[in-house]
Amino acid sequence: MSTPDFDRLPVTVPRFMAAKGEGRKLSMLTAYDWLWAGVFDAAGVDAILVGDTLGMVVQGHSTTLPVTLDEMIYHAEMVVRGTKRALVVVDLPFMSFQVSPEQALASAGRILKETGAAAVKLEGGANQARTIHALAAADIPVMAHVGLKPQSIRRIGSMKIQRDEDRLLDDARAAQDAGAFAVVLELIPRGMACRITAELEIPTIGIGAGPDCDGQVLVGPDMLGLNEGFHPKFLKRFAELREQALAATRRYIEEVRTGQFPDDAHSHE
Ligand code: KIV
Repeated sequence: MSTPDFDRLPVTVPRFMAAKGEGRKLSMLTAYDWLWAGVFDAAGVDAILVGDTLGMVVQGHSTTLPVTLDEMIYHAEMVVRGTKRALVVVDLPFMSFQVSPEQALASAGRILKETGAAAVKLEGGANQARTIHALAAADIPVMAHVGLKPQSIRRIGSMKIQRDEDRLLDDARAAQDAGAFAVVLELIPRGMACRITAELEIPTIGIGAGPDCDGQVLVGPDMLGLNEGFHPKFLKRFAELREQALAATRRYIEEVRTGQFPDDAHSHE
């Protein structure tokens, strides 16, 4: 479904939530800077997540664990500057909220005050219900994240599909009851995502969770084919930008070496 108003007006948290009742599928992508936020926003994406995947796709780490709150704030500020319409949501990185609800309030408060973003996301469901409640009570919109939680990598060992349906449902329900405005479902079987989506009043945003979620999120550089060697089943590459960038760079090098560039058309008299 598409109405001129929804496509034109800035996406606020209430409008994001209302999309579920209106049967409107929500699109979300991750971005980490002004340049790509501007591209995704101009294309009309509903939400931009400044994900802590920053650690992997921008910083080159093998997990998201090293990312700091200051780094998230630095990148989120750029994303907000590049965004006119999309709802900007910022991840709370590892150990910026797990210590206590007070720590989460301080971290999320900095994000909203220093970046201009509208909301935060944190990994957790039932185990973070007190923290989600504290954030919501302080008028800080919070998106929960259940299923595969990459910040738990040291405990779980690998990024595997999460199949414990009772636990997934409990986590999603607990997040909703604590005041989350939406929940990410990562890497779970599509049937489970379908049941959770039907059960919840808040939107579910899937990644590797099948077509029945209320919306979808992908990591921007993965969706664009910029990330070499990452081919999980759930990932559709909508472009092959790495190949294009390689070809363009090789052509540039060749033209510099042969003297074809700069030619008359690219030189000043
Ligand atoms: O950090 C991130 O990019 C995420 C998405 C994969 C949902 O949490």
